[in-house]
Amino acid sequence: MNTTVPVPRSPGALPLVGHLLSLARDPMGFIGAQRRHGPLVRISLGRRPAYVITAPALARQVQLDGSGEHFDMGGPVLDLFIRLVGDSLPTCPAAAHRRQRPILQQAFHHSRMPGYAETFRDVALARAARWTNGTVIDAAEEMTALSMDALARTLFLGPGSAEAAKVFQRHFPVVISGLATQMLAPAAGRLPTSGNRRFRHSIDTIHQAITDMIAMRRTDATDHPDLLSLLLSPEGRTHLAPDDTALRDQLFGFLIGGIETTGSVMGWALHLLATHPGTAARAHNEIDDVLGGKPPIHDDLARLPLLKRIVSEVLRLYPPVWLVSRTTRAEAPLGEHLLPAGSDVFLSAYVLHRDPETFPDPDRFDPDRWTENRTGRPQRDAYMPFGVGARKCIGDVYGLTQTGIVLATLLQRSQIHPASGRAVRPHVRITQRPGNARIRLVARARAT
Ligand code: HEM
Repeated sequence: MNTTVPVPRSPGALPLVGHLLSLARDPMGFIGAQRRHGPLVRISLGRRPAYVITAPALARQVQLDGSGEHFDMGGPVLDLFIRLVGDSLPTCPAAAHRRQRPILQQAFHHSRMPGYAETFRDVALARAARWTNGTVIDAAEEMTALSMDALARTLFLGPGSAEAAKVFQRHFPVVISGLATQMLAPAAGRLPTSGNRRFRHSIDTIHQAITDMIAMRRTDATDHPDLLSLLLSPEGRTHLAPDDTALRDQLFGFLIGGIETTGSVMGWALHLLATHPGTAARAHNEIDDVLGGKPPIHDDLARLPLLKRIVSEVLRLYPPVWLVSRTTRAEAPLGEHLLPAGSDVFLSAYVLHRDPETFPDPDRFDPDRWTENRTGRPQRDAYMPFGVGARKCIGDVYGLTQTGIVLATLLQRSQIHPASGRAVRPHVRITQRPGNARIRLVARARAT
């Protein structure tokens, strides 16, 4: 194989700033537009060579390098996370990852899902009990809050976790907006502005809340089978969290990974169902037929194929982790190219999921595109909302279970309608969530 084919350069780089302004102005638009220049495109973001992948085969090759020999965790997206969560599971290099992941994986074992599903249902019912008939909610905010409650009752048990979740809820939006500034305009991120001060303050406050939670847990004699117990076990202390800062960083990594993502998927799902009443009606019928008025349990999810297709389609259109980056540790072959050591490589599920050749009419919400006769190898290869390979999301099944159970619970009780004529657009920060998705919830006659 010839590995020396030069990589085309993306046009439009300006002197000194390269493509930075275009990226800052419209990150998704800029990354998406690279497709027209080829499967691998060189962009200019600073001194380090940077590349955008727009073809599924190359995106898989990069992510499947489990040894990290050529492509390891790194690049600008990751550098920002390291500032927040240090060297924890989502950020650590491949060598440390091989020791860390099997220990934490225990909290996500499939045998735990039925129990988690019960909690997700209870959390959804508790939130629904706060809404009166006709209540208008902001879908993203409400679903993120729900996701936070769910995490505090499944993976973060024990004293102090509910308080930590509340602090996180208040301060996390500030952290996420601040991170976006740091990524897209690093110079502005260093100025002594009130926004930057708020960003720093919110990180410190979240750190403190997690530290308090750990301190409370140490004085609690009860055995809580959760993530913190894995981190505090002798194995966890050796390989994951040798000191309290590492412990705090690991927990923060899971809060970031688990809340905004699932909250955003459920928020988009409510918005898309509210704006596609035909699909929503079919989902109501399926849920009524299968559940017969009973609250959903884990086993019901396998009997709700339309709901599953709806969630798959939401994740295709709006993968919350829309951009990931890697770094080449050494000269790295990629397809027919050879990338120099120290290059940043970007890949975007959002871009792959909107390729019109793989997903015809790609911007259309069409859950039935996931029926068996319309899904083949090209679609499966290009679809990667949770990533691929050794770094694939550890919370994928947990997140899908939560989304399925919460949607089934809410759709069983309520009709959902758009409550505002304003356009709903992706609010692109580190994840993408629906901006302005106001939903009216109207009680259904058949709900029990
Ligand atoms: C539907 C919801 C979710 C989506 C779409 C999602 C997406 C992703 C993606 C794309 C990655 C890979 C990033 C990369 O390759 O750099 C990832 C990693 C990760 N996610 Fe998720 N995630 C979701 C839910 C969750 C949940 C619920 C948790 C935890 C409770 C979680 C925790 C993590 C962690 C810790 C990692 C790093 C895994 C590793 O490197 O071994 N995620 N997620």
